[in-house]
Amino acid sequence: MRPQILLVFVAFLAFSEASLRRHSASTFLKRPKEIENSPVYNNYKLREVPSEEDDEEIADTVFDKVNDRPDYRRVSICKKSQESDTLEIIEGETCEQKVAIGRYRNDVNKTGWGVFEVETFPGFSEQLQSYAAGVAEGHLTKLQIYYHWQNTVENMCKNQKEYCKKLYKYIQQNLDWINKKIVSTPKADLYWHHVNLTYTQLTGIHDGYRKLKDAEYVPNISFLLNPILMIQLSGELIDLNKALNRTFDAAVDDPEPSKCSGFLKATDGNKDLLFSHVSMSGFHTMNRVLKLYKFAYDKKNVPGHTMSFSGYPGALASADDYNLISSGLASIETTISVFHEELYENVKPEGQLHCWVRSIIANRLAHNGSEWTTIFAWYNSGTYNNQWTIVDYKLFKPGQPLPQKDLLWISEQVPGYIGSRDMTWFLNKFTYWPSYNIPYLKSVSTKSGFDEKGNSLNWWRWGYSPRARIFHRDHNKVQDIDTLRALMRSNDYTHEEFSKCKCNPPYTAEAAISTRGDLNPINGTYEIPGMGHRNHGSLDYKGTSYALFKNLQLNVIGGPTYDPLPPFNWNTTNIDAPHFGQPTLWKFEPFTTQWEAKVEVDL
Ligand SMILES: *[C@@H]1O[C@H](CO)[C@@H](O)[C@H](O)[C@H]1NC(C)=O
Ligand SMILES: *[C@@H]1O[C@H](CO)[C@@H](O)[C@H](O)[C@H]1NC(C)=O
Ligand SMILES: *[C@@H]1O[C@H](CO)[C@@H](O)[C@H](O)[C@H]1NC(C)=O
Ligand SMILES: *[C@@H]1O[C@H](CO)[C@@H](O)[C@H](O)[C@H]1NC(C)=O
Ligand SMILES: *[C@@H]1O[C@H](CO)[C@@H](O)[C@H](O)[C@H]1NC(C)=O
Ligand SMILES: *[C@@H]1O[C@H](CO)[C@@H](O)[C@H](O)[C@H]1NC(C)=O
Ligand SMILES: *[C@@H]1O[C@H](CO)[C@@H](O)[C@H](O)[C@H]1NC(C)=O
Repeated sequence: MRPQILLVFVAFLAFSEASLRRHSASTFLKRPKEIENSPVYNNYKLREVPSEEDDEEIADTVFDKVNDRPDYRRVSICKKSQESDTLEIIEGETCEQKVAIGRYRNDVNKTGWGVFEVETFPGFSEQLQSYAAGVAEGHLTKLQIYYHWQNTVENMCKNQKEYCKKLYKYIQQNLDWINKKIVSTPKADLYWHHVNLTYTQLTGIHDGYRKLKDAEYVPNISFLLNPILMIQLSGELIDLNKALNRTFDAAVDDPEPSKCSGFLKATDGNKDLLFSHVSMSGFHTMNRVLKLYKFAYDKKNVPGHTMSFSGYPGALASADDYNLISSGLASIETTISVFHEELYENVKPEGQLHCWVRSIIANRLAHNGSEWTTIFAWYNSGTYNNQWTIVDYKLFKPGQPLPQKDLLWISEQVPGYIGSRDMTWFLNKFTYWPSYNIPYLKSVSTKSGFDEKGNSLNWWRWGYSPRARIFHRDHNKVQDIDTLRALMRSNDYTHEEFSKCKCNPPYTAEAAISTRGDLNPINGTYEIPGMGHRNHGSLDYKGTSYALFKNLQLNVIGGPTYDPLPPFNWNTTNIDAPHFGQPTLWKFEPFTTQWEAKVEVDL
């Protein structure tokens, strides 16, 4: 790091980031030795902490149109000349050769979310569009990315030297294979073209993140390990930790990482089709961004050219996951554990693509649920093993009978195997579909080891677990967005019969649709560690209806559930985890996204 940048950065901190003043500047500059010494991680040195231009976040914003949201900061990514593809960042929305517009506001202290929109324009190559979209995101959301990186990546190699060496080697081998594959595959191959676009966008984020605003941006693609790539791997690491024998460290690792609740409901008389998701994970991951990506890609080949999702700073895939797509599809997932660890022998650096990449490409290219599950299953990495639920809103007509097939598909992944099935019959029969971290398909249940675990404890048994019972009892209470949100945020564990366990105290705040592991006492005794005190709980709520879906709108709440429970407060919680850039008190009201970009899904 050059000293003048350090000085400017410290000065910047002093006036705009009051809370960070409590941490000495050296906290920012220290890199774990393990990272420094890893040969494949040298690229990390390219990283610079956010610096002088970030003060623009609080500088005057340029407005072009009277009706623009006054609270967005907006930049255009423009070609510098007709002849070359070199790009520059222009404040506001006006320039001659505009490839992309990015719009952003960091509302984490008002709603719990940052909001980011990017829109690209026709007349430019798809490569240039994806790179420009990345630059806009990396540039505008720089500070939030940096906080999220500190909270989730910076210390992951602490006391894990052997593991991280294996991890970096595996990741670099995987990137080398992807690079080779892209070069050797005919350009007309749509799938690999989109793999290439995905890494091009990622490279754009990295460049926008680390370069200064007045730099020149030459479209490029990088297959080197960098901090932005590490951010993409959040979900993959759940399985890579096990596949590569990370030493379990009770101080920072979770016994049952990442659980989520998903729910689909056809209301009475099929008046509406409601689709919702609550993410659950460590509270350090709670720096969130709601995103809209709108690309001027070829609409015929790419039905998912426009997509809204609940996401994380610098991450291209939702990772929750919660995606609303211009194809009429909506996709969510909840994570499934792999108890039969010998399955991890199927995790290989070559011939495989990580789940985050496969999900982006399935979301973009699929026209229907069946096709989504087919595309997603290619190049299974065996990492971020999930139960996916894919809903086709095109097949839903308010007030009409549901179709017999193709409205609802599921896909379940373990290393070496993906099973998929049309579950429209289930929705017809029960009027809802729940997803709660337990595989439904017999094949996946057996392979993953859920069969045996479920026989030992209902906690792991499909249809019998606490959330299975709560969904089954309460799904009929859900008739609109407000009642949907009420069920998805529900947690009254001291009174709820299905939250009871053979524990002391005799219940767990982890047995609820929206969990709060922080509220279980540290000195409690529990049947399994997953029921006890943990840095784990609900981080949000997202929901949509038929009407909201048409404009890819999400109804959301940021932060852990509260009411009747106390709101999560970093001042008073006994959870000890990094939370740079997060509000102290997580007590926010619901709201519905209003995208400024024009989005209309033809249902
Ligand atoms: C992949 O993307 C890069 C950068 O966007 C581009 O230069 C290259 O031609 C693309 N490769 C293929 C095979 O499409
Ligand atoms: C493109 O990336 C490669 C490797 O990532 C790097 O060597 C090269 O200098 C970059 N080109 C430009 C124009 O930035
Ligand atoms: C992890 O440990 C298992 C069991 O000891 C062993 O079979 C496997 O080879 C190890 N994997 C790696 C990547 O170290
Ligand atoms: C799904 O889309 C694919 C590609 O357009 C098509 O071949 C297939 O018939 C569709 N399936 C259904 C069930 O509509
Ligand atoms: C845990 O500690 C608290 C405060 O010391 C005490 O009131 C409570 O009874 C203890 N609970 C258990 C299960 O031991
Ligand atoms: C939100 O509040 C936190 C904690 O006070 C602070 O660190 C952060 O800078 C604030 N973020 C914004 C965008 O105001
Ligand atoms: C948290 O503690 C700080 C320092 O004592 C105080 O200034 C702030 O008001 C507290 N915030 C909340 C939400 O409790």
